[in-house]
Amino acid sequence: MFSKEVYVARRQQLLKDVKNGLILILGNGDSPFNYPANTYTFRQDSTFRYFFGHDLQNLVGVIDIDNAREYLFGEDVDMEDIIWTGPVPSIHDRALEVGVENSGSIKDLRKLVDDAVFAGRKVHFVPPYRAENVNFIAELLHIDKEYVKAYVSVELIGACVKQRSIKSDIEVAEIEKAIDNAYIMHTTMMKMAAVEGTYEYEIAGKMEGIALAGGGPVSFPIILTTHGEILHGHDHSLQIRKGRMIVSDAGCENPMGYCSDITRSVPVGGKFSSRQKDIYEAVLSAQTLVPTLVKPGVKYSDIHLAAVTRLGSALKELGLIKGNIQDAVNCGTMGLFMPHGLGHMMGLDVHDMENYGENYVGYDKKNIRSTQFGLSSLRLGRELQEGFVITNEPGCYFIPALIDKWRSENKCSDFINYDMLEKYKDFGGIRIEDDLLVTRDGCRLLGKYIPKTVAEIEEQMS
Ligand code: GLY
Ligand code: MN
Ligand code: MN
Repeated sequence: MFSKEVYVARRQQLLKDVKNGLILILGNGDSPFNYPANTYTFRQDSTFRYFFGHDLQNLVGVIDIDNAREYLFGEDVDMEDIIWTGPVPSIHDRALEVGVENSGSIKDLRKLVDDAVFAGRKVHFVPPYRAENVNFIAELLHIDKEYVKAYVSVELIGACVKQRSIKSDIEVAEIEKAIDNAYIMHTTMMKMAAVEGTYEYEIAGKMEGIALAGGGPVSFPIILTTHGEILHGHDHSLQIRKGRMIVSDAGCENPMGYCSDITRSVPVGGKFSSRQKDIYEAVLSAQTLVPTLVKPGVKYSDIHLAAVTRLGSALKELGLIKGNIQDAVNCGTMGLFMPHGLGHMMGLDVHDMENYGENYVGYDKKNIRSTQFGLSSLRLGRELQEGFVITNEPGCYFIPALIDKWRSENKCSDFINYDMLEKYKDFGGIRIEDDLLVTRDGCRLLGKYIPKTVAEIEEQMS
């Protein structure tokens, strides 16, 4: 954990930003894997961890704004627990460790919330994403679980987003540790991808082991596939074959829960063919343009458009796109090649704060999400601010079913060379992703530089 002053200051800020009522922040419990005693790896809720620090099961934090009191609730362990799980500090001591003066049992929590509800006070909570916590909130508030969504506090979401979006120096340092471990994951992948016949799961497994050996889990299920055109390809069953690109999109959490999210795309065997090099360089030119544009005050949706315009220009040089590139972009052409957004926030969650609702995090009243295919998948469209940590992850994919559909609809046919595209249906895809910190006048690449140019990748794989 950080020092207790960090958590005290974060809660004090929340207390200032939310006007009145009771803020309820539920931690997570264990989730059964196949029977109750055999659980998935425990993952604490990020809002709880951000404000109350502890990476332990079944805790609830409360901030009573009207009375300026803070509480930590949970059950103290009994001898039965100690036998199986060892001794742990009391809830009271846990509370003091993060600067919280008051503590109690879940029964005490029920009474506090009951009193607030019956006094007509507002109870703030962010959207729960686990069934157990949906049920728990419903029980605490005496409402049907169907209505829990309707009672979510937009005011609390806004206050959390405002604070968590700006990463402090100590948070950035933790994120960089996670990226440095991702460096080992991806450079190991490059070595293994040089050997034709290796199974995807051998590489993915080695990468996951590196994440675990760094003290945290992977930050999301590893995407490691020779079918990069499947954007979130979690199947790892194939043997890798020359002629295919591997898309490796993987990151880890460090012991403090902060994430990395890195993608590298490499040719099986270690040498790019000229066609692979052409598409790779096109994506890379878009990816390297982005840091030159990132700075406070610029909308990330504008940088997304600049990146896809650069990608489009490069694809035009290859003959896959034709006509005026600006008109092509306006038509939505680039959605065929890059049907996802340029990036997202990253922090304690790999898609940071996405449990609050993507639009609360990535958009605001001035910046509304586009409905155009491709751009509509951009998770972060609003103006950047100093302290944001964001991903920069353009890609280019040849998705046979999507190509067929667009062709049959004659979509953007003035700008797409569909005949040439037919020959790329066996290509797969390419994505390149790094993590950036928005600084006062630009941005900084976070973590150790991971081989990225064609020459650097070929060198790493040799
Ligand atoms: N891990 C999926 C992404 O890069 O957003
Ligand atoms: Mn990623
Ligand atoms: Mn990402």
